[in-house]
Amino acid sequence: MSFYKKIINKISRKKQYKHWPGLIEGYKKWLPVNDNTPVITLQEGGTPLIPLNKINSIIGNGVKVYAKYDGLNPTGSFKDRGMTLAISKAKESKKEAVICASTGNTSASAAAYAQRANMRSFVLIPDGYVAQGKLAQALVYGAEVLAIRGNFDKALQIVQEISNKYPVTLVNSVNPYRIEGQKTAAFEIVDTLKYVPDWICIPMGNAGNITAYWKGFKEYFEAGITKKLPKMMGFQATGSAPLVFNKTINEPETIATAIRIGNPVNRDKAFIVKKESKGNFFDVSDDEILNAYKLLGKEEGIFCEPASAASLAGLLKLKNEIPKNSVIVCVLTGNGLKDPDCAISNNNSKFKSDIEPSIEIIAKAMGF
Ligand code: F0G
Repeated sequence: MSFYKKIINKISRKKQYKHWPGLIEGYKKWLPVNDNTPVITLQEGGTPLIPLNKINSIIGNGVKVYAKYDGLNPTGSFKDRGMTLAISKAKESKKEAVICASTGNTSASAAAYAQRANMRSFVLIPDGYVAQGKLAQALVYGAEVLAIRGNFDKALQIVQEISNKYPVTLVNSVNPYRIEGQKTAAFEIVDTLKYVPDWICIPMGNAGNITAYWKGFKEYFEAGITKKLPKMMGFQATGSAPLVFNKTINEPETIATAIRIGNPVNRDKAFIVKKESKGNFFDVSDDEILNAYKLLGKEEGIFCEPASAASLAGLLKLKNEIPKNSVIVCVLTGNGLKDPDCAISNNNSKFKSDIEPSIEIIAKAMGF
């Protein structure tokens, strides 16, 4: 084992767990917690880094692509990483209610963790633009759901003002604990690969997650655990790409409703990440997103939500610019089950209905 690998093994994770205890316990020394912090956890984190062999053969040139499948978190998205910490810290300071604006995943996660901590959760969502699975989650977990006539950007502006005026804690990614929790995904990538990938491809909405990943990679680098930093490649949907075109989009549109955001609150941080990491931002069309979404499902057996597929769509768009033998991680932020309507309307599979329950007829339909 190289010296470098030994150091990573020694410092990065204190011990190898038989059962992953959740990211606060797993990465305690990297997080702003103390012995008095009540740990509100659903054992989030510890998600798989899956090699994408078919994608590798499409790209060629010795490039190795992995999916960090964060859709396997307890509420089906990466938001759980930030929420375990944001809710634990709110509980530690005796807060009784939390609020967020959301395109769906933040609200599902906030509701689950808040209820687990016996706190009220209020969620503001853009009426009619939240995928069914996410809305179902917020309701089942017991959130108080307020669907507004307006988009995510408007909802965020309102919850920021409400949390300044009333005793409710804001748990959107302006809450620094969200970023702290989410940075652990970068630690996990390094701990699993035992080296730093060349590129991280990541979908951007409010740009909290790209900020968090970069913080994680930088912390390992500054602690001497790693010797290089990845390029952060951020992708947005063409109709909702304020960070790509560097202007606020008043009426953002995309099939990827999770990232239907025109005025990202972490805009300045995102531009710092781009500059420091020598990365870049690009837009991908809804068709490119759906193509990557279908490819992941059909060729790799991975069902992610449309917003997540923007990371692979972006990588495929840059196919001819990827340096030979690069190692690339595409972050798959949310589970495909979140948005069943999109799945049913966008696939290339065969579906026959109203079939007589007879062996001959079914065998014939099967092509025998
Ligand atoms: N992917 C998914 C599945 C998301 O739900 C989000 C954001 C992003 C990517 C973008 O992450 O905002 O940190 O750049 N969803 C938020 C929500 C806005 O309300 O669930 P970001």
